[in-house]
Amino acid sequence: MDSVYHHFEKINSTQDWAKENFHAFDLSKLHIITADQQLKGRGRLNRHWHSPQKTGLYVTFSFFVPNLQFSFNPLSLVTGLTFAEVLQKFGLQVLLKWPNDLYVNNKKLGGILTETKEIQGGRIFFIGVGLNVNMSLDELAHIERPATSILAETHKNSSMKSILQPAETIFKRNLKLFLDHGFEVFLKDFEEVSFLAGKKVLFDLGHEVIERKYCRVDKDGALVLKDQNGQEQKYVSGEIKGWE
Ligand code: BTN
Repeated sequence: MDSVYHHFEKINSTQDWAKENFHAFDLSKLHIITADQQLKGRGRLNRHWHSPQKTGLYVTFSFFVPNLQFSFNPLSLVTGLTFAEVLQKFGLQVLLKWPNDLYVNNKKLGGILTETKEIQGGRIFFIGVGLNVNMSLDELAHIERPATSILAETHKNSSMKSILQPAETIFKRNLKLFLDHGFEVFLKDFEEVSFLAGKKVLFDLGHEVIERKYCRVDKDGALVLKDQNGQEQKYVSGEIKGWE
C-alpha cells in the first residue's frame, strides 16, 4: 500500500481533518496526516490532548478496508504494538494498557484514538496516535495524569521523522498481517507487553465499577477479566480506572 502524506504546521486536529476530508482521499492508499501542533487535539472520551508545537508526534493513519473479516477492535492494539516496536529501538520498554495507552515506567507516553466510518463498499479507519516526544518535565507537569516523554526517559531529543518513518513501515506490515489473519497472530506479542498482566484492575462499566483480575486480551481485542470465583468475562468497552 503506497502512502500519501498530508502535513500541517498548525491544525485543530489531524483526526478531525482526516474525518472531514476523506471524501477526497484515494482509497487505495494509506493517508498519513501529521501536524507540528494541534489546537484542539482530542483524546478518547472527548478528553483534550495536549499538543504543543514540535514537542509531540501527532499523526492520524487513515485507510479503507473493503471487506473486513474480523472485529476491528484490535486495530488499536495492533497500532500500539507497532509503536512499542519502534520505541524499543530508542531503548524504551513500552507496555500497552488495554485498549489504547502506551506506558513507560508506569507513566503514559502516548495514546491511540481509533475511529471508523462505514462508507460505500467498506469501512474507513482513522487511527490517531499522540506521543510525547520532546516534552520537558515542566511541560509534562501540565498533564493531569502521570505522563512521560521520550526526552524525559532517554534525556535525548528525537526527531519526529526518526519515529514516523519506522512506524509507517511497521504499521503497514502489521496492518497486512491483521487484515490477512486477524489478531490471533499478535496475541503472544501482545501479552509480552501487556501493562495489566498480573494486575488487579478497577473496571468502570459506566453503570458500576467492578474489581477483577486481568486474564488476557482475546482474538477480538476484548479484555478478559476473572472474578473472585475464577469466572471469566469478556469486555469490549469500559474504562480501566485503577490497578495494583
Ligand atoms: C488518548 O490517549 O486518549 C488518545 C490520544 C490520541 C491523540 C492523537 S494526536 C493525533 C490525533 N489527533 C487528535 O486530535 N487526536 C489524535
